Amino acid sequence: MPDFYTLQDLAQWQANGETLIPPARLAVIGDPIGHSKSPQMHNPALREIGLDGQYIRVLVPKGTVEVALRQMAQMGFIGINVTIPHKFEALDAVDEVDPLARRLGAVNTVAVRDGRLVGFNSDGPGFLRSVEEAFGTDVSELRVLVLGAGGGAGRAVSVQCALGGCPQLFLVNRTEEKSRALKNEIQSFSGSTVVKTVSWNDAALRAVLPDVDLIVNGTSLGMKDEDETFIPANSLTKMHCVFDMVYRPGGKLTSLGQAAAAANAAYTDGRTLLLHQGAISFEFWFQRPAPIETMRKGLTEALLAQ
Ligand SMILES: NC(=O)c1ccc[n+]([C@@H]2O[C@H](COP(=O)([O-])OP(=O)(O)OC[C@H]3O[C@@H](n4cnc5c(N)ncnc54)[C@H](OP(=O)(O)O)[C@@H]3O)[C@@H](O)[C@H]2O)c1
Repeated sequence: MPDFYTLQDLAQWQANGETLIPPARLAVIGDPIGHSKSPQMHNPALREIGLDGQYIRVLVPKGTVEVALRQMAQMGFIGINVTIPHKFEALDAVDEVDPLARRLGAVNTVAVRDGRLVGFNSDGPGFLRSVEEAFGTDVSELRVLVLGAGGGAGRAVSVQCALGGCPQLFLVNRTEEKSRALKNEIQSFSGSTVVKTVSWNDAALRAVLPDVDLIVNGTSLGMKDEDETFIPANSLTKMHCVFDMVYRPGGKLTSLGQAAAAANAAYTDGRTLLLHQGAISFEFWFQRPAPIETMRKGLTEALLAQ
């Protein structure tokens, strides 16, 4: 079986009446897409609920998201996950956007309902569940600092924290105009969360970290060995919770993970989010609880095999 299919493959199946066995009923679309572990997470769950269908990867170039989604809906797909770089394009490609996805500014899950494309976001609620699982508390109890509060993931997490009643939110982004714009946006709807921007430099971060409970890395830094630790040395303590949205093959620690371990801080990485956003997508598609332990096992095995 190839790592991924293309829109041409789908068109050919449609024209010739071909199908996979079991038939493709769910997919993740993105560019690139061959690395996605979502099939290994979702296919065991589909088998567990007895669905005669499989989850595949489809390579979809920028600018063709709507065409792809409509083609898949016509072919009997139940749902589609949307990943980099299409989460914004998908917002305009669907027939209806769930209010939370609209507020978070991105669609990462599409459900086909009566032939209509309905867009959801499972990253935000997946983040909340991940925090609960990893740290045994929820964001209403935590002062949160988000690094990368200008990119798609950092934005979704920041907005979700404010919606979840986080008392204090510190927004950090290399390009500061973006974190300032996000601060204004969050303040326009959230009465209870105090939002501040913090500059991306050692002195500013060092000054604010004693007033932070949860540190979230929503940047793409930390995946490579050569990525430097961007938290000032010796500024993490065992009182901090650290959530790196990035993860590395084979469960290797990210640079932030290494700093958290050295400080004895509670830590989790992007694998937790991958699992919980996947489970919530499953719930949008099937409107039933996801077999989370089966999904966790499939994902863990796939990541360890990398
Ligand atoms: N585990 C999961 O399920 C999950 C889900 C979503 C995302 N993620 C991960 O989260 C990361 C961000 O994804 P995204 O979709 O938000 O990407 P994005 O929209 O491209 O945003 C990238 C962010 O990283 C910052 N950044 C990039 N290079 C930097 C550098 N050298 N120094 C400082 N900041 C830098 C950017 O800052 P500027 O604004 O200044 O460019 C921006 O805030 C990715 O690694 C992705 O894999 C994981």
